[in-house]
Amino acid sequence: MGRKSKRWYLQRKRDFYYKLAKKLQYRSRASFKLMQLNEKFNVIKPRKIILDLGCAPGGWMQVAREIVGDDGFVIGVDLQPVKPFGYDNVVAIKGDFTSEETLNKIRELIPNEEKKVDVVISDASPNISGYWDVDHARSIDLVTTALQIATEMLKERGNFVAKVFYGDMIDDYVKLVKKYFEKVYITKPQASRKESAEVYVIAKRYTGKKWEEKDNIKRERKKESDGELLIKKIKSMRNKEVQNKSDQ
Ligand SMILES: C[S@@+](CC[C@H](N)C(=O)[O-])C[C@H]1O[C@@H](n2cnc3c(N)ncnc32)[C@H](O)[C@@H]1O
Repeated sequence: MGRKSKRWYLQRKRDFYYKLAKKLQYRSRASFKLMQLNEKFNVIKPRKIILDLGCAPGGWMQVAREIVGDDGFVIGVDLQPVKPFGYDNVVAIKGDFTSEETLNKIRELIPNEEKKVDVVISDASPNISGYWDVDHARSIDLVTTALQIATEMLKERGNFVAKVFYGDMIDDYVKLVKKYFEKVYITKPQASRKESAEVYVIAKRYTGKKWEEKDNIKRERKKESDGELLIKKIKSMRNKEVQNKSDQ
């Protein structure tokens, strides 16, 4: 396929899910990703309690609600506000899921005494810098926090789904997930654009193993990735300056 026709094909595919989401009144085209993931891996089932980390505008929450039905419960959390859904058993919190304050709000909402959910799903995206390795490192930080939350809040044998931007730390991340779950897969649903770096980690059957401190996000690496970003920005500004001078 030529470059032009490939672009056209990708555009049309994008429009297909975009239009379908509009037609079926889903809040995002991402809804179809969760539907396709669930068809293949059967992670969410009727009557279950779901926690959605990074849920705005709420497309995954709509799909989760359809699957769990009237007797299930869906809690979402996002930095952005989420419009109400009109169901008593679907609730969204505005907050940062990496903060203890937000985690306390989630704990309060879980409708059982043991404060445990059946499935943790996360489609959270970091702020995109446009630099592949920096975005990958930020995404790994977010999914590591999501995994830590899953190990605290999941019932034993519960499931975990998380989006991650592909890169060289993915193997270590999958190794980490395997420490806590019986079965782990990496997949890319059809509704995910081929040119996007996102893949989804599907982890089934939480073993109940407690989170180990040594698995916390490596703060040094985070500093390094922010530093790298700054250096790249400066270099790119300098290149532009050189380019402008040579154009004059
Ligand atoms: C791709 S969107 C999620 C789309 C959603 N699955 C849907 O179907 O509507 C990613 C979201 O992650 C959220 N996010 C990123 N980091 C977060 C954090 N630390 N706490 C809460 N939300 C976060 C962003 O605000 C953004 O709304």
